[in-house]
Amino acid sequence: MGKTITIEGVTRIEGHARISIQVDDKGKVQDAQFHVTQFRGFEKFVEGRPYPEMPSVMARICGICPVSHLMASAKACDDLMAVEVPETGVKLRKLMNLAQLVQSHALSFFHLSSPDLIFGMDGDPKLRNIFGLINKRPEFAKDGVLLRKFGQEIIALLGGKKIHPAWVVPGGVSAPLTAEKRETILASIPDALARAQRGLESFHEVAEKFPQEEEVFANFPTMFAGLVTPSGGLEHYDGTMRFVDENAKTVAEFSNPKFYSDFIGEAVENFSYLKFPYFKPKGYPEGIYRVGPLARLVVAERCGTPLADQELASFRAKLGRAPQSSFHYHWARLIEILYGIETIKKLLEDPNILDTRVRSRARPNRLEGVGISEAPRGTLIHHYKIDDNGQMRWANLIIATGHNNLAMNRGVRQVAERFVNGHRLNEGMLNRVEAVIRCFDPCLSCSTHALGQMPMHIELRGPGGELFDELRRS
Ligand code: MG
Ligand code: NI
Repeated sequence: MGKTITIEGVTRIEGHARISIQVDDKGKVQDAQFHVTQFRGFEKFVEGRPYPEMPSVMARICGICPVSHLMASAKACDDLMAVEVPETGVKLRKLMNLAQLVQSHALSFFHLSSPDLIFGMDGDPKLRNIFGLINKRPEFAKDGVLLRKFGQEIIALLGGKKIHPAWVVPGGVSAPLTAEKRETILASIPDALARAQRGLESFHEVAEKFPQEEEVFANFPTMFAGLVTPSGGLEHYDGTMRFVDENAKTVAEFSNPKFYSDFIGEAVENFSYLKFPYFKPKGYPEGIYRVGPLARLVVAERCGTPLADQELASFRAKLGRAPQSSFHYHWARLIEILYGIETIKKLLEDPNILDTRVRSRARPNRLEGVGISEAPRGTLIHHYKIDDNGQMRWANLIIATGHNNLAMNRGVRQVAERFVNGHRLNEGMLNRVEAVIRCFDPCLSCSTHALGQMPMHIELRGPGGELFDELRRS
């Protein structure tokens, strides 16, 4: 008889989840799953509400990425109204979206993942956390804190409050940018850029020390997906949705979000409430693809800003055009931080960024609308149907963490096959199984459309389902 290992309360990811590992009598791994176990029906909950409320209601899905939901939701509403958002309205939305990208990536890299990189995967768990980091590398930890603050302050300046800003509305944004706010943000750019560059230097000092992790942290060929600009550059707000194969060759593209369901199917597995999106033309599960920072750097031909492109050139020189290991999400995330700060500067220096025409008004002119944008974690899709009175009839959300669900599950299995052996878990195994998931930076509050935290554990079980070992962390 074999056994199952359950890792409950995966730490240092946003929210909580559970991992099960099945082993045979000899302790050899047979299978593994990453479960998301709690569900709150946000899609049902919004039915009957007026569509203009959606951006601020949907932002409440997640305390971690409210801005991402604001963007996708507002874009779905623009589509319902059949309006074009004024140019400056688009630029201001992009500004907030990139501020969210920078602060979220800083949290993921500096706070959640770098303790593993600085202290090692087998490092003492008492030190291998944000507090240990503050003691050992105070300047590095401070860079992370202040990069987050940089992004959060832009969001607060634009939206009026850091969480759930109501400034992004259907048709554009509710107020233009003032010259004073523009100067305040511009003044903070050089400091943020310096911190991002130091973060990259620190990453390069330690990145070479993880050949085993690079080898088995979800290292297999998949497709990649994400938005690109019309000329194929890196894009987070709007543009063409592109799917590429494991060699970065374009397989499919669509510019009108309404075609998403021709390309993306959603499978259901009985062990998780989080659905398993897949590339429809290839079927399930062969249509496995990845989204997020690594995927965006594979689907895009270039970043389009000098510092980020310089770093992208080294990234490609070292790892190739389409790196297969999810360990490289970390480097990709840091490149995107650079890109985000550089692009925020570029947007603010645009002469018409202070234009006061920032919002288009209209009644609903379509009964169905779709909005797609890139959340820090990957592509986010909001799809709404309304009735003739403008009340929500139906909603479907496909969130970033969902797209990566197949790859995260296979990654957990790959890591377990390498590091788990026998009928007992040790700290190094446990941490690596969690660390592969942290590469993807999943947001579990978003994933389940749930509020708050979910209970979670890791369990080691046999073929008969008997429990060998389990670990819980909070
Ligand atoms: Mg859904
Ligand atoms: Ni979220």
